[in-house]
Amino acid sequence: MAKIIAGIGTSHVPAIGAAIDKGLTADPYWQPFMDGIEPARKWMKEHKPDVCIIVYNDHASAFSLESISTFSIGVAAEFPPADEGFGPRQVPTVMGEPELAWHMAESLILDEFDMTIVNKMPVDHGLTVPLSIMYGQPDAWPCLVVPICVNVVQYPPPTGNRCFNLGKAIRKAVDSFPKDYRVAIFGTGGLSHQLQGERAGLTNPEYDKQWLDKLVSQPDSAKAISHTEYLREAGTEGIEAIMWLVMRGALNAEVEEVYRFTRVPVSNTHYCLTILDNS
Ligand code: DHB
Ligand code: FE
Repeated sequence: MAKIIAGIGTSHVPAIGAAIDKGLTADPYWQPFMDGIEPARKWMKEHKPDVCIIVYNDHASAFSLESISTFSIGVAAEFPPADEGFGPRQVPTVMGEPELAWHMAESLILDEFDMTIVNKMPVDHGLTVPLSIMYGQPDAWPCLVVPICVNVVQYPPPTGNRCFNLGKAIRKAVDSFPKDYRVAIFGTGGLSHQLQGERAGLTNPEYDKQWLDKLVSQPDSAKAISHTEYLREAGTEGIEAIMWLVMRGALNAEVEEVYRFTRVPVSNTHYCLTILDNS
């Protein structure tokens, strides 16, 4: 049977993708960041998940404000990198796993999570930058991907509690899939950042550290945090952290944090990365 071997949390800052794509990683701004993510890449090489379920948000690339789904699942065989204004990133096409994705869609919907089923979509920095962070620049991504999109762009986003429970339902779906896949689940985005308005540029590393500690060891407390608290403490885009709660909900009650790296600022964001061992 399939098994979730780990949860990975990472910010999905687009400038990281641009730095990698343009060969700027030895630049003094990026070198310390690259050094910080290296142990995570090593972990990926050693643990080799067959499938990555990537929980991310689309930033008005595949979807517009014409129709807004709270939770979506990509069931296609391939997802091309999106054109976000400068042409698509020159990274490999993301290969889906339709059989697992359809199994998950069925399990989740019958579990009363009303997923939007997406047969065709390009994937933006929210999904491709985490792959670049964890895998570098391979000719082909070394894993299949099931994309799960969460609306964090248009108010109201789902609650942290709902995201956590979606994670639990994802766990149930994966556990009942009859192929011996080793699965990693990513929560992406955050942590504190604000890209607009009077507080543009806000980060709050102290808050993020406490939040991360809670996510790892007291998820019941992390999942209860209100939208207003994210907005106040972590800025307008800090709400992306709720996607890490989907990841955490899919893991055991107790997990071991095998790696954490944080750095501020990376672009406009307090960059955070964590690997949670679920074995
Ligand atoms: C930045 C971070 C994001 O999560 C995003 O979607 C866009 C930009 C940033 O830090 O610049
Ligand atoms: Fe984002």
